[in-house]
Amino acid sequence: MEAHVVERKQRLRSQDWFGSGGKDGFIHRSSMKMQGLPDHVFDGRPVIGICNTWSEFNPCNAGLKGLAEAVKRGIWEAGGLPLEFPVGSLGEDQMRPTAMLFRNLLAMQVEESIRAHGMDGVVLLAGCDKTTPAQLMGAASVDLPTIMVSAGPALSGNFRGRTIASGTDVWKFSEEVRAGTMSMKDFVAAESGMSRSVGVCNTMGTASTMASLVEVMGVALPMNSAYPAVDARRFALAHLTGNRIVAMVREDLRLSKILTRASFENAILANAALGGSTNAIVHLLAIAGRIGVNLKLDDFNLGSEVPLLVNCLPSGKHLMEEFCNAGGVPAVLAQIKGLLRDALTVEGRSVVEVAAEGECFNDDVIRALDNPVRPKAGIRVLRGNIAPDGAVIKPSAATESLLVHEGEAYVFSSVEEMKTKIDDPDLPVTADTVLVLQGCGPRGYPGMAEVGNMPIPARLVREGVRDMLRISDARMSGTAFGAVVLHVSPETSVGGPLALVKTGDRIRMNAYEGTLELLVSQDELEKRAKAWVQPRTVTPRGFVKLYQDHVMQAHTGADLDFLVGASGDAVVREAH
Ligand code: FES
Ligand code: MG
Repeated sequence: MEAHVVERKQRLRSQDWFGSGGKDGFIHRSSMKMQGLPDHVFDGRPVIGICNTWSEFNPCNAGLKGLAEAVKRGIWEAGGLPLEFPVGSLGEDQMRPTAMLFRNLLAMQVEESIRAHGMDGVVLLAGCDKTTPAQLMGAASVDLPTIMVSAGPALSGNFRGRTIASGTDVWKFSEEVRAGTMSMKDFVAAESGMSRSVGVCNTMGTASTMASLVEVMGVALPMNSAYPAVDARRFALAHLTGNRIVAMVREDLRLSKILTRASFENAILANAALGGSTNAIVHLLAIAGRIGVNLKLDDFNLGSEVPLLVNCLPSGKHLMEEFCNAGGVPAVLAQIKGLLRDALTVEGRSVVEVAAEGECFNDDVIRALDNPVRPKAGIRVLRGNIAPDGAVIKPSAATESLLVHEGEAYVFSSVEEMKTKIDDPDLPVTADTVLVLQGCGPRGYPGMAEVGNMPIPARLVREGVRDMLRISDARMSGTAFGAVVLHVSPETSVGGPLALVKTGDRIRMNAYEGTLELLVSQDELEKRAKAWVQPRTVTPRGFVKLYQDHVMQAHTGADLDFLVGASGDAVVREAH
């Protein structure tokens, strides 16, 4: 028996619901029997919740309905009682103003649903970007035995015989339409070709990044991130996950034994090799805050010496199907096994053992350390007088020549102003201009939208410019690319110094040295700070008010301040 295994001595928590005599036990069991369950399933066996973010408003997660059935088969087979329950869903492509506004709300719902119900372990079914962190955040604050199955990537897109990618090609097509080199008819045809099945974006965008990191951190079985959403092997993996969670309950293998400092460090290292999304930063910080791991923004520099090994969009050229065929996350772990920290996984073995079994079947898609896509990848944390609490850039997605750059700022004070002016042929900008966008942080937007990768001004696109240095307190889509400085903290709406930048100021960035400076004297900045008036950004009521009153800044993960930490799984009082 593995060292972590402690055979559970005390009765399971579900027995407080289904195992008690008297009226309370009667009510809990009797109401469950409405669904056709026989007496003997309340014999004290592990009750497993299946927390499902399935929704038709979130096609990325639409496959989770079927996957839940495969999980149930595995739970029944292993002697557990599966009970599926819905929570909200957050579809990145469908929700306005941004799905991120609701990540913490979903996390609250996940947490309270798990705690309030009579379950001993939980299977999290997640997919689209925010659903994965929201589920982990909520589950971490309860800390039952927990395992995840991801929705899996959509099939590769195809347009006129050419492979096309979710997200990444949208940005390219829309630039081409604006430049007059693609017709609207072709644009619409490409929409259909891009979406050939349910599943998450088929690049190494935020969803696949998060699913991969879940696997690296040991919260899911190997190959969780890579099997396509509609691949039969994903259903088999879901079945095996159902088997495994029942055993995890018997072993009392809780989430806090898996999500340790070591597993977060592994995630940061692997994220660099994957060319993963900048959104992973805010999500990992928020999850760490829930589980009690002291993770800081600067810890992300840990990945900045790791080479980019995964040759997938947006940093490379392949899609998730090729990543799957090349061996997926275990094959990546095999390349970086010398860097990995020893950390437990849901299988009850170390991630180092998973890495030892990883095999690469295509060394162009998953490169060896001595043949990387780029020698240095990861996230670079930037600091300076514009971003005293930090900002980030993803060098692997940027044009290399812009990683050290000085230029004149052109400032947009809101996303609306940016959208109105960006294609104005008289906009006084050149390829060297630094585009600055204000008012898009967690509190200001609100929800910290993915608008940091501002479009290149149309006139410059026509002149052949494809990348410019852009700076904001926003995020960007994991499928986007460019020399884009994001998550500037503190944000402009709370008076962060990015709010003081004026058009014509000079800005200097050196991504290699991690510096971002506004070349304006301290005296002048103090004068501007005195004259600065806080914009009215507070919503009068509802969840958005709660969010704006309590959201923390990006460099700590943008959770709500009162949600940090955990409350455990105990519920003292009965309902009747
Ligand atoms: Fe859902 Fe990309 S929009 S994963
Ligand atoms: Mg996205």
